[in-house]
Amino acid sequence: MGYDIAIDGPAGAGKSTIAKMIAEKKGMIYVDTGAMYRAMALYMIRKGVDIDDPDRIAEACQDAEITINHEDGVQCVFLNGENVNDLIRTEEVSKAASKTSVVPELRKKLVSLQQELGLMKDVVMDGRDIGTKVLPNAELKIYLTASARVRARRRYGEFLSKGESANLAEIEKEIKERDHRDMTRAESPLVQAEDAILVDTSEMTIEQVVDKILSLIDAKL
Ligand code: DC
Repeated sequence: MGYDIAIDGPAGAGKSTIAKMIAEKKGMIYVDTGAMYRAMALYMIRKGVDIDDPDRIAEACQDAEITINHEDGVQCVFLNGENVNDLIRTEEVSKAASKTSVVPELRKKLVSLQQELGLMKDVVMDGRDIGTKVLPNAELKIYLTASARVRARRRYGEFLSKGESANLAEIEKEIKERDHRDMTRAESPLVQAEDAILVDTSEMTIEQVVDKILSLIDAKL
């Protein structure tokens, strides 16, 4: 009997890093749902759709087919047959995805794709509404978070290590704005599921978080 793990939390809490490591250690499949929302946002940008117009987005998303496959354990996202993995990590797409993902019609399409993937079992899926909406019966649910200040500092460090300049205060402001949008939208807002276990990573290293979740898996399953 397989099991699914749902990991939800705000942007920058370390969900994808942690989920990927857990999947590898446990021989499970990692599903990054944010990448699907990002691919949809990329479609809207390319089509010149006003990302502040929910009606246009609801209409336009009907023509965007998102699919995923896994190569050597790495998830690839396809937008109408094109691998867009390398095009969806820009600031422009991040911002657009946070806006376009409020549209119920767009979410409906992606949630059904995610639920199909969850049926395979042995999936570690991360996002905002996995434990509450996509996989409400997941065997283990984690709500991974960290303070906005810590998340901003991590992001800032990433920019610097790539040799790019960045403004810490600006990054923290954007993180708070994104949290606000994700947590207050009408459709599937980011919220901790009642049966999810809270893991605050503000004072933890990546290794400590992975060990903590591995021990939760052992205890629960
Ligand atoms: O996790 P991420 O930063 O790649 O997600 C990009 C955007 O997609 C984020 O602003 C919120 C949205 N998202 C969502 O609404 N539901 C999910 N399950 C995953 C992401």
